Amino acid sequence: MNYPAWEVPNIGGSWVIGIISIFHVVIAWFAVGGGLYLPLAERKAIYENKRDWLPVIRTHSRFFLVLTSVFGAISGVGIWFAIGLVHPEATSTLIHNFVFGWAIEWVFFVIELAAAAAYYYSWDRIPEKLHLKIGYLYAASSFLTLVIINGILSFMLTPGASWLSVAGTGQEASRFWEAFFNPTYFPSLMIRTLACLALAGVWALLTLARVNGEIKDSTRVSMIRWSASWLVPMFVLLPVFLVWFLAMTPANNLGLLQLGMANIGSGGFTQVTRIAMLTVITTFTIAGVVYFFAYKLPKDLTWGHAASVMFLAIIATSSTEYVRETIRKPWVIGDHMYSNGIRKSEIDGFNSEGYLTQSMWNPGRTASQVEVGKQVFRGQCMSCHTETGYRSMKRFMAQRDAASTASLLQMLKEHKPESTTSKFMPPLVGSEDEISALGAYLMTLNDQPAVVVTEKATKPSTLAKNQ
Ligand code: HEC
Repeated sequence: MNYPAWEVPNIGGSWVIGIISIFHVVIAWFAVGGGLYLPLAERKAIYENKRDWLPVIRTHSRFFLVLTSVFGAISGVGIWFAIGLVHPEATSTLIHNFVFGWAIEWVFFVIELAAAAAYYYSWDRIPEKLHLKIGYLYAASSFLTLVIINGILSFMLTPGASWLSVAGTGQEASRFWEAFFNPTYFPSLMIRTLACLALAGVWALLTLARVNGEIKDSTRVSMIRWSASWLVPMFVLLPVFLVWFLAMTPANNLGLLQLGMANIGSGGFTQVTRIAMLTVITTFTIAGVVYFFAYKLPKDLTWGHAASVMFLAIIATSSTEYVRETIRKPWVIGDHMYSNGIRKSEIDGFNSEGYLTQSMWNPGRTASQVEVGKQVFRGQCMSCHTETGYRSMKRFMAQRDAASTASLLQMLKEHKPESTTSKFMPPLVGSEDEISALGAYLMTLNDQPAVVVTEKATKPSTLAKNQ
């Protein structure tokens, strides 16, 4: 434990990251897709003599500038804030490996912001062709920010054999390119690009629904049809890239989805599978709504229709992100570092020397067993669990007595590949004393008298035996 643990009541640190990143992703993907949409729409307007489109594109670009530069930038900084506090060890590893990548990312981001502002403020003030060129500069720089960040995000799922072979030696940065162009890099980039294009179409429908009555019907109809076609690549190509992505994802990551499929309906680990299904269902609903309300009957497209499509798109985006984050469990960096910051290579050392021995957050010799246990919990469990909220330990402990808690911890420590919990939880590490201290702390969360708990816990199993 090299860093202090950040305690977030109820939702837990992982949802702080989750909420900020979902917000950020919806805006950032729109910035990339919209970056292509604006100059391509403008080009069409100029060269195909649809000059009536121009004022609408201009309106759209204002909405766009505010959304991406203000909310995109703020939420981007928010992600740094959240990951630094929740996953300090992993953030540090990523910075050590990809500092140059981020430096490039920020250069593109500055160009993107400058180009977006120049694009908006120079409408009708500079020659048309120059204006269009600024639009292309915007498109290229925003797409390049995706090209870079995709390398770092896909690395976390599949760092690749080459980087893993030097992980922990101090030579990791020498495999920068191998880590960057890791096994899931290209399928991830393709999927993200399709999502960006589709979101650009969805946002454009929102603007077009809003200007109803302000522009000619024929203008609106032709623009709505054209914007709806931005969703077509998504529906045609997504299955292809998804299959490619799944083929490049290690089997144990997909194990969680299969675990959910196998237990569907019986609780257990079905959440991620259900959410994966939500992605599929919302995606098809969007296709239907856009086809019937925007493509077939563009005149009737109302603000309500466009807003519902946007709402579905946000659900589809956030559930996809949730699934992507969840299938990586228990790793934060695949096969190298667990979500609680413990490296695979450190396990033996922690087991023989003790987990808190070298830590600045060791509560010291005079600390009670519960205090030591709480610190082990903060270091090893709190990145995924809370005491009483999300994945509440209080709930998980409610049915357990001291003996069943001890056997649970033993199971977490052994971390046998065939045990279900080892598919989504890291191995518990530490000395015997630390592990019993964790048990003592966990028992304090279970505020029912031990006797009652024992009775409750044994009754169903006695029944089962009698049947
Ligand atoms: C990488 C994230 C992660 C970490 C770290 C983690 N867990 Fe879990 N844990 C999970 C998930 C996911 C579940 C399943 C939640 C559910 O079913 O709602 C779970 C479930 C559990 C359960 C219920 C399992 C059952 O079969 O009843 C217990 C108990 C538990 N965790 C204890 C711990 C303890 C103790 C630690 C720290 C040593 C820990 N977990 C660390 C992710 C994690």
